[in-house]
Amino acid sequence: MAGMSALVIGGGGREHALCLGLARSESINEIHCAPGNAGTAEIATNHPFTEVADLIHLAFQLDVDFVVVGPEAPLCDGLADKLANMDIPCFGPVAALARLEGSKLHAKQVMAANNVPTADFHVLGKDSDIDSALDDFSGNPWVVKRDVLAGGKGVVVTDDRSEAKQFIEQSIISDGQVLLEKFLPGDEASMLVVMDGSGFVCLPASQDHKREFEGDKGRNTGGMGAYAPAPVYTDEVRAKTVERIVQPMHKALSSRRVPYRGVLYVGLMIDENNDPFVVEFNVRFGDPECQITIPLIASDLGELLSAASNDKLSEIDVEFHDKHALTVVLAAENYPGPVEKGRVIQNLPQSSLDSWVNHAGTKVENNQLISNGGRVLSCTAISENLNDAASKAYSLIEQIELAGSHYRNDIGHKAL
Ligand code: AMP
Ligand code: GLY
Repeated sequence: MAGMSALVIGGGGREHALCLGLARSESINEIHCAPGNAGTAEIATNHPFTEVADLIHLAFQLDVDFVVVGPEAPLCDGLADKLANMDIPCFGPVAALARLEGSKLHAKQVMAANNVPTADFHVLGKDSDIDSALDDFSGNPWVVKRDVLAGGKGVVVTDDRSEAKQFIEQSIISDGQVLLEKFLPGDEASMLVVMDGSGFVCLPASQDHKREFEGDKGRNTGGMGAYAPAPVYTDEVRAKTVERIVQPMHKALSSRRVPYRGVLYVGLMIDENNDPFVVEFNVRFGDPECQITIPLIASDLGELLSAASNDKLSEIDVEFHDKHALTVVLAAENYPGPVEKGRVIQNLPQSSLDSWVNHAGTKVENNQLISNGGRVLSCTAISENLNDAASKAYSLIEQIELAGSHYRNDIGHKAL
């Protein structure tokens, strides 16, 4: 499978990590990215498209061997379906399967049908008795989830009953219904499972840092940093997760006429008995989890992604580095709120084999690197131990100059 061409969809840190992994792959000799960022432009050809119709046309014109879809939105909009109709292999599921991320209620129904462990829940609509539902799950924080793609802003976890009730009422008005979920105590981990009709491969589990400030304080973000492997994901937890979650989900998803081809992101809560529960499914790589998971794959990434796009996963062996990876996100001023784009980025450090800068919201204008989003860059390192990976990643991020930017100083703290 040498000499393949790939088209990567998306323009964040995740897609730069995918392009970097593909650039290192012997199987790949041509990479395209749409829309990409300043980092992908160095190793791929960027194309300024984001609409599904334009992306289909682009894949056809470029005659790529396969397409890798980073974000969930184009998958929910049917990008993989349309590519399948044109016989263009796609890493990323068809819309009916992407609903696992697009609808939390649908995900709950699939889990129930397949006996996959997850939190109990109520579906509330305009005629529901909200107070009695809140009573049912009292004694712990309330977890309220909107049943729509909300870009990470659809979940409220709160001890404040009136805040929970208000969010429920607002969501019923805007969406028709909402989920109230039982709170699950425990430690979170992100598990990425590459799967297709023929098999699945679990990638090393990682831990994301979703809150804005040190000590997991402040607003929820897309993710301020991550590291892998996550020590909470012990051999015992791994065995339970594969048996109770991954195998039944793969069985359900691979038995479809068009099987799930891509990566299933399993957001796990691991309780005090080391029992894993599903908090959420995403139908894509996590960002920033992707930035630290891809470098831990020792095998050829192009071969892995292409195999999963063609139901040939069971034909390949996938190996991992016995190492630790960590990434720290540099966010723009006021992120996760609205940010000003177009600020100049200076002093970008040189990358080496074991530490490098992932571009996310960046672009080049008038020969200058400028910010172009909320999460601007992330600094990533890989090493024999997590401490060393952390110090290498932090020594890179400290050098970067971007007015108003901020990063968390405690990425990896739970494992360090
Ligand atoms: P989600 O978008 O479903 O992943 O939820 C966002 C975050 O809310 C998760 O990463 C958890 O930290 C938290 N969360 C979601 N559901 C629960 C739950 N049932 N119990 C405890 N925390 C939860
Ligand atoms: N970092 C969490 C996510 O990508 O959903």
